[in-house]
Amino acid sequence: MSSITAIRGAALSYSQDPFQNAVEDCFRYEADALIIMQDGRVIAFGPASEIVGTLAGDVEVTRYDNCLILPGFIDCHVHYPQTEIIGAYGKHLLDWLQNYTFIAEQKFKDRDHAHNTAKVFLRESIRCGTTTSAVFCTVDPISVDAFFAEAQKLNMRNIAGKVLMDRNAPPELLDTPQQGYDQTQALIDRWHGKGRALYGVTPRFAPTSSPEQMEMTASVWHQNPGTYLQSHVSETASEVAWVKELFPACRNYVDVYAHFGQLGERCILGHGVHLSEDEFAELHESGTAIAHCPTSNLFLGSGLFEMSMAVNPRRPVRVGLATDLGAGTNFSQLVTMNEAYKIAQLRGYALSAHHAYYLATRGAARALYLEDKIGSIAVGMEADLVVLDLAATPVLGYRMQHTSNLEEMLFVLMTLGDDRTACATYIAGERVYSRELQVRKEMFVPSLQVE
Ligand code: GUN
Ligand code: ZN
Repeated sequence: MSSITAIRGAALSYSQDPFQNAVEDCFRYEADALIIMQDGRVIAFGPASEIVGTLAGDVEVTRYDNCLILPGFIDCHVHYPQTEIIGAYGKHLLDWLQNYTFIAEQKFKDRDHAHNTAKVFLRESIRCGTTTSAVFCTVDPISVDAFFAEAQKLNMRNIAGKVLMDRNAPPELLDTPQQGYDQTQALIDRWHGKGRALYGVTPRFAPTSSPEQMEMTASVWHQNPGTYLQSHVSETASEVAWVKELFPACRNYVDVYAHFGQLGERCILGHGVHLSEDEFAELHESGTAIAHCPTSNLFLGSGLFEMSMAVNPRRPVRVGLATDLGAGTNFSQLVTMNEAYKIAQLRGYALSAHHAYYLATRGAARALYLEDKIGSIAVGMEADLVVLDLAATPVLGYRMQHTSNLEEMLFVLMTLGDDRTACATYIAGERVYSRELQVRKEMFVPSLQVE
């Protein structure tokens, strides 16, 4: 039995989908909660006054005053190899891919480069309170080994996979259908289910895979139950037109993935900005999820995701929030929520704070079919948590004094919050990041020091 970790402070967790139920029935807020963790799981969560008496006298309780404890944030779609090109001037998606992305991704033949980039990526993620991500690596299996090896040191639950790509990219980044299949199977055997690691079969997007590779990709996914499939769909208008040219027999972009057997539970498609009603219906019926990537869509000028259409109660599609770094511009899911709100506003839909926090926690877990393990604070759930400091910056502390209820407080926190707001991150019950300790130059995660 491992030791017990106990933390005390205000805590918030979602138990149901506020897009489909009355908001007040969807969350649990405890103004003074005690959360007790052991063996990587939450073993008690409730009002401190009721639980504190059950703790053995020698257990130290860490108090987080003027803070809010949440389930760790979940990022449903992100590219760790692109960490070094965040904020590269890109004009639009296809230009940005050619001029920056495909150049950066060629460096991942080098094992040291892959490990160092994975460390920076994971350090920045946990510094923002993100405890799970669905990650695109590169075409080179070294990039996957490096990522999972670094994530394993932190005992993190992540989904990751080797990019499959056999056309329309530089020759150095291409595999073949057979190579892609064999390398994917070998990586699944090496990593899927090892500790908390989960494998995501990762065809980059329809334009970079031949029909033969699309078929073999579906085969390897179906032959390995419990694995994921992640890709991109309908991010920009020119990409949609290109897909139409490449797959003239398919009805639309989603139909390309349907045609090759790539939709279903545990399939997560990034973006979905230009989807039709028929396409949303097909995603709903198949149980496929969309990763909404607001900072990326704004940065590349890709378009405005239509949240109200995606969550239409007649045929709701699972949606989770995502950074899509390096086209996305910020590791912080608070910043990402803020931008999601603005995109929704421009679509005539006012995304409430509760809806936004849901999308970055339990909603994201549902999109990843992991809501029985992560995304909520409850007894039996894996103990991944973030502690947010309500006075992380002078203006945030000042503004908080002028809020009068939980909803206002949450909204201000996502509007003014960023990486500085996370003051501690717990993974599987262990504190892996403390802002105060880092400020005092005692970097809390020695394994993430970069050479
Ligand atoms: N579509 C295909 N590849 C990518 C990528 O790396 N980033 C984004 N944003 N879109 C893509
Ligand atoms: Zn992406």
